[in-house]
Amino acid sequence: MMPRCALELLRRCSDSRRFNYLVDASKFGYRSISSSSPLTSGSPSCSSSIGYATSCATLSEAQPRQSHSSDMLVDSFGRFHNYLRISLTERCNLRCQYCMPAEGVELTPSSELLSHDEIIRVADLFVSSGVDKIRLTGGEPTIRKDIEDICLHLSSLKGLKTLAMTTNGIVLSKKLPKLKECGLNAINISLDTLVPAKFEFMTRRKGQGRVMESIDTAIELGYNPVKINCVVMRGVNDDEICNFVELTKLKPINVRFIEFMPFDGNVWNVKKLVPYAEMLDKVRGQFKDVKRLQDHPTDTAKNFKVDGHCGTISFITSMTEHFCAGCNRLRLLADGNFKVCLFGPSEVSLRDPLRAGVDDLELKEIIGAAVKRKKAAHAGMFDIAKTTNRPMIHIGG
Ligand code: GTP
Ligand code: 5AD
Ligand code: SF4
Repeated sequence: MMPRCALELLRRCSDSRRFNYLVDASKFGYRSISSSSPLTSGSPSCSSSIGYATSCATLSEAQPRQSHSSDMLVDSFGRFHNYLRISLTERCNLRCQYCMPAEGVELTPSSELLSHDEIIRVADLFVSSGVDKIRLTGGEPTIRKDIEDICLHLSSLKGLKTLAMTTNGIVLSKKLPKLKECGLNAINISLDTLVPAKFEFMTRRKGQGRVMESIDTAIELGYNPVKINCVVMRGVNDDEICNFVELTKLKPINVRFIEFMPFDGNVWNVKKLVPYAEMLDKVRGQFKDVKRLQDHPTDTAKNFKVDGHCGTISFITSMTEHFCAGCNRLRLLADGNFKVCLFGPSEVSLRDPLRAGVDDLELKEIIGAAVKRKKAAHAGMFDIAKTTNRPMIHIGG
């Protein structure tokens, strides 16, 4: 069981841009560190004149909810879950190899997907219970027609500090100014290669140039950092790691190299996995002064910075060094199923009780019971690869 003091620290640290402590979550010990965000520490040498502060602005800090932090969000290991990932759609305008099979996936009929009102009702329940960060995922969230409206309603929930999105960036450039107006204040964009032909191979669609354009739009709009997700696969894009690091020289971006993870239909094989240690060696081989930054205790990423670079780099090491001890994430899927662990196959429907007319108290009991059943950690990469889960496109990361 996590000691109460550590739990309290995790709560105090829940705004990743405002923490003053570091909890070594793997040991549940803690020590006091005075620092700013890991991604803004150091002295960025960007020559750009843009004031990069938008994504650090919180949504409704001025009027925090009175009754916060309910027991519903605490699991049996004492982890407090302040972060909800909502998948808005199972559809996508790309067909990434690591995410879904070539033939696509079976889609849930639209009448069985959560409506706008159902999403807002469930999100409101979570936020009133202590969730202060929501990330919109998919499929591809930007292709949902009511995306602006959803952002507007979510961002007005009192107590929500961060409304984030993970997107493939294909149609983002056009949509982002409006989304920002609707309260979207943090953005992660997937980009696995800087080579257009390879992009077409990896995603089975064209569009690398459009993603680059979206990254620049996000920077111009003041998102800082713009996080770039790069899933590294051996023999496919592992030769580009240093080119991605080079991008951080002048751009205020955080490139995250992600270990390839097994999901149904993505033909995972350990030979395709490039371990974190090997990726870091490659970076250190070309860039001499690579400093480790402080990570937030609930970070999935291990953060680094090349001295003199404006941006930062990170590694998401789900396979070789999991970070489950600090996990603060819950997931609501597009069909209304609630999932407490990315790799845990168990799910419980919130849509069915919702449509049967349950009240908030009953819904909270269902959610709380599922959270209490959450395991301490995932089963390890080889067991995960053998366990039936959903394809990644349904889960949204
Ligand atoms: P931040 O909120 O900015 O920290 O983003 P994030 O890394 O949580 O979210 P994003 O959607 O950008 O996901 C990047 C990678 O991290 C993807 O490969 C996700 O599958 C992975 N990831 C996100 N959440 C979890 C998690 O809870 N457990 C594990 N093992 N991986 C995760
Ligand atoms: N392994 C690691 N990361 C993945 N993503 C999708 N599939 C995988 C996988 N098999 C990443 C995408 C996206 C995020 C939501 O999850 O790159 O940025
Ligand atoms: Fe959390 Fe499960 Fe991811 Fe571990 S694998 S960090 S417990 S979601």
